[in-house]
Amino acid sequence: MAKHDKQQMISPNLPAELKAALDARLVGVSRSDAAGRAARISESYRGGGNSGIVRSRADALAYALARMPATYAAVAASLNAVVEIKPDFTPQSLLDVGAGPGTATWAAAEVWPSLDRFASLDANAALRDLALELARDSSRLRAMAYRHGDAHATLANAEAADLVIASYVIGEMDEAGQRELATLLWRKTRDTLLVVEPGTPAGYARIIALREQLIAAGVHVAAPCPHDGRCPLRQPDWCHFTRRLPRSQAHKQVKGAGLPFEDEKFSYVALTHTPVARRPARLLAQPMVGKAEITAKLCSSNGLNLVRIPRRTKAAYARARRWRWGDAVPSEV
Ligand SMILES: C[S@@+](CC[C@H](N)C(=O)[O-])C[C@H]1O[C@@H](n2cnc3c(N)ncnc32)[C@H](O)[C@@H]1O
Repeated sequence: MAKHDKQQMISPNLPAELKAALDARLVGVSRSDAAGRAARISESYRGGGNSGIVRSRADALAYALARMPATYAAVAASLNAVVEIKPDFTPQSLLDVGAGPGTATWAAAEVWPSLDRFASLDANAALRDLALELARDSSRLRAMAYRHGDAHATLANAEAADLVIASYVIGEMDEAGQRELATLLWRKTRDTLLVVEPGTPAGYARIIALREQLIAAGVHVAAPCPHDGRCPLRQPDWCHFTRRLPRSQAHKQVKGAGLPFEDEKFSYVALTHTPVARRPARLLAQPMVGKAEITAKLCSSNGLNLVRIPRRTKAAYARARRWRWGDAVPSEV
């Protein structure tokens, strides 16, 4: 785990310690067996199934190998946005709900050296066991408390935490379950709640429903939105972001993929008890760089704007050339 004493933006790649812990468990594991398991798991997801299909250690390892790099990259990007908006946030406790193999816990630990109490819960025993096995190799995560059970029941007795994360979880519940979970998650949040979902129209719809439900209960949005109002996007548009991450040899084998990278699309919302001081605009797409100007799709405090930055405004144009989809940028451009 990184040696620093202040929160920092983190890379989308799995930390070396986690990668080593995973690699150690993969020694002697047949790649074709893992590929078959990973394919069955993702087929089940595509058919509307859930992680219940992960039943054994071999399934859990195949799931981790296939999906952990991508979900880690999505959570890392979302946490980076929180660090940028709330630079003074120094959480000590984390509650990772639907933690699976512990992906979000590893990412949060990488961002905040201040975290020293790690609690997780999940309904899947095979994923819980793998998470504890991987955490054994980390001096900080070794003491992680991990409860097994349905989140709706176990959250009631969970201790509140400064930071609560539910990553790629709420899509595994029906709408009533999602609403109930949103209330429970917020009840356990002392400062910030992060919810991440796949960057599909359906994942975005779940994020927006949870966002609206909790705003109505008095919470504030820290990221990605620069406001607590209604999302200005209308169908068929949806708010999502993307991260490109390199594929390891093992990942290519397990996914049966040729390309040396994958693009993970995700939607997220970070919610807090108190309004954030700074509310920059958010880039909702990769800006288009034309000969005469750069065109950028921005969500600002006053809604959705298509902003044009002419080449003749040299300094602004140079700044805008560095903008990337998902970045927070000054709202006065
Ligand atoms: C797609 S995995 C994501 C795991 C992890 N958060 C990540 O980002 O890699 C979804 C996880 O949510 C858990 N889950 C789904 N519904 C749950 C519920 N009602 N209670 C507890 N865990 C649940 C599953 O067991 C699974 O581990």
